[in-house]
Amino acid sequence: MISIKQINENEIDLCYELDSNTISLWTKKQWANEFKKEGTKIIGLLLENLVIGICVFQVVIDEVQINYFVVNQNFRKKGFGSYLMDYLIKRCKKLNINKLLLEVSQSNITAEKFYNRFDFSTVGIRKNYYKDGSDALLKEKKLTTK
Ligand SMILES: CC(C)(COP(=O)(O)OP(=O)(O)OC[C@H]1O[C@@H](n2cnc3c(N)ncnc32)[C@H](O)[C@@H]1OP(=O)(O)O)[C@@H](O)C(=O)NCCC(=O)NCCS
Repeated sequence: MISIKQINENEIDLCYELDSNTISLWTKKQWANEFKKEGTKIIGLLLENLVIGICVFQVVIDEVQINYFVVNQNFRKKGFGSYLMDYLIKRCKKLNINKLLLEVSQSNITAEKFYNRFDFSTVGIRKNYYKDGSDALLKEKKLTTK
């Protein structure tokens, strides 16, 4: 059974472990900071009791910035990422969020395809944004006509 739950700071190890096994974006200290950031929520996608995906997003007035979005390597291309994104979009609509924003490396073709499938459009580029020198694409998805 698939479900979604909010992840709290006492489960930081779970986040750090999934991150270390996938994209290694944040240190444990950086994860700890995420839990403390105002407006930030961390949600996990569970298959039975196993957390197979994590999304970190921050609500800023009527916008949501997606700061982290990962599915465990062994469970990709099975629709789980879409399940998590669908959940997030529905939740944002209920909160009257105007748009979703994120940054993704131009070299991350998989993520680019994934976000395009949800009608995110590229609204800007940050040159040399990542450690490997790749550019970041700024993407947004409007949820209202505002
Ligand atoms: C991006 C990511 C979250 C997608 O999760 P997922 O569970 O594999 O996604 P889904 O199975 O729901 O795929 C949905 C669609 O995304 C696209 N997609 C996903 N993986 C893809 C791949 N390897 N190649 C091409 N397109 C892909 C396809 O359009 C797919 O639809 P389809 O299966 O009908 O072709 C996952 O690949 C991941 O965790 N990547 C590493 C972390 C990352 O890059 N996060 C984003 C950085 S901001």
